[in-house]
Amino acid sequence: MFITKTPSASLLTSHISRCIERTGKTTPIARHITSIRGPVIQCNSTLRLRQLNRQFATCSPAKAEYNMSSDDASHHNNPEFELSRVFNVSGKIALVTGAGTGIGLMATQALAVNGAKVYICGRTREKLDKVAHTYGQGIRGQIIPITCDITKKDEIAKMYEEIASKEKCLDILINNAGISTKTFQTEASSAEEMKKNLFENEEATFQDWDDVYRTNVTQCYFTTMCFLPLLQKSTEVNRGWSACVTNITSISGEVKTSQHHPQYNASKAAEIHLTRMLAQEIQINGLKVRVNSIAPGVFPSEMTAGDSGANQKSHVPKEKFEGKVPADRPGHDRDMAGAILFTVTNQYLNGQTVAVDGGYTLMAGR
Ligand SMILES: NC(=O)c1ccc[n+]([C@@H]2O[C@H](COP(=O)([O-])OP(=O)(O)OC[C@H]3O[C@@H](n4cnc5c(N)ncnc54)[C@H](OP(=O)(O)O)[C@@H]3O)[C@@H](O)[C@H]2O)c1
Repeated sequence: MFITKTPSASLLTSHISRCIERTGKTTPIARHITSIRGPVIQCNSTLRLRQLNRQFATCSPAKAEYNMSSDDASHHNNPEFELSRVFNVSGKIALVTGAGTGIGLMATQALAVNGAKVYICGRTREKLDKVAHTYGQGIRGQIIPITCDITKKDEIAKMYEEIASKEKCLDILINNAGISTKTFQTEASSAEEMKKNLFENEEATFQDWDDVYRTNVTQCYFTTMCFLPLLQKSTEVNRGWSACVTNITSISGEVKTSQHHPQYNASKAAEIHLTRMLAQEIQINGLKVRVNSIAPGVFPSEMTAGDSGANQKSHVPKEKFEGKVPADRPGHDRDMAGAILFTVTNQYLNGQTVAVDGGYTLMAGR
């Protein structure tokens, strides 16, 4: 007689009863179970016991079947609703690009504090080391810096090799790195004035548009394509989990105005479309890697505040947003953490863009 003890015994019982209901037959494992009492299962072979334990270890929301025809309190699937299950990133391997400051740093903390091993990249080694030192102590996960300019294919490939040499798969990719460059006066009272501001202005260049597009769109495409084999491996080795890519796009890609930086807004709209296109191209090839995006409103970062402090964090005064956004404030780190954990762990989310903007797009319109 062999015994295993598991809080998921009720799931197994329900699974077996459903199987019998549907097919009139029991499951192969069930034939070896001699009794189930609460969380205690008795089994007549060690081999089957090992199989059972494996089932419980990989028990996932997708496997959570419960007997709909029973109102027996022991036939519930309540454990599936625990935060630690719904938003579980413990032990996951992640890569966050542009993680030295702002939203990338928030994403890194959200994952690492909750037990993920997070590789962070950016061009400035000092920023990355500071993040690893300041935020990597006394947490369940790890933060590991890799210097990389993600606008260069050979550097992306080198980063892939470095991670692939240490990890058997990549569970989470956050394409966050991005830039915003020049701003322009778009308001004009005549066609001539509009041309002067947006064409004759010597800061309005093809090069500027190319730089923004290269960093915000092209790299996102190449980084995802480069890491695809490691991401697909994650889905294959983690039962009940599909690897995921979360692109940090922007509500700037959704609103119809240029917000004085037309090149940035056009690039973010392209990145939103790229998200859906990548999700489609990946799934149509039978691969199981989800691609979603978070479109933030205003969050404190070097991009929005101009700089960051010794802890790599930036500050945007709340007063600046009173009356300008329904939330009357910029986004908090916690708002971004929730969005990251949601897009990363929700196995049924694919090809979507989630706006986290304090209601900004309600006011501005899309
Ligand atoms: N903050 C907001 O309100 C807001 C709103 C909507 C969307 N976003 C998006 O959020 C993302 C993060 O921006 P942020 O606001 O957090 O600004 P940020 O503080 O300036 O962070 C951007 C990060 O990207 C890195 N980066 C830039 N170019 C890179 C490159 N070629 N290779 C590798 N890393 C690079 C930068 O580090 P290095 O310079 O050291 O490389 C920096 O750490 C961007 O995609 C941005 O468009 C931000």
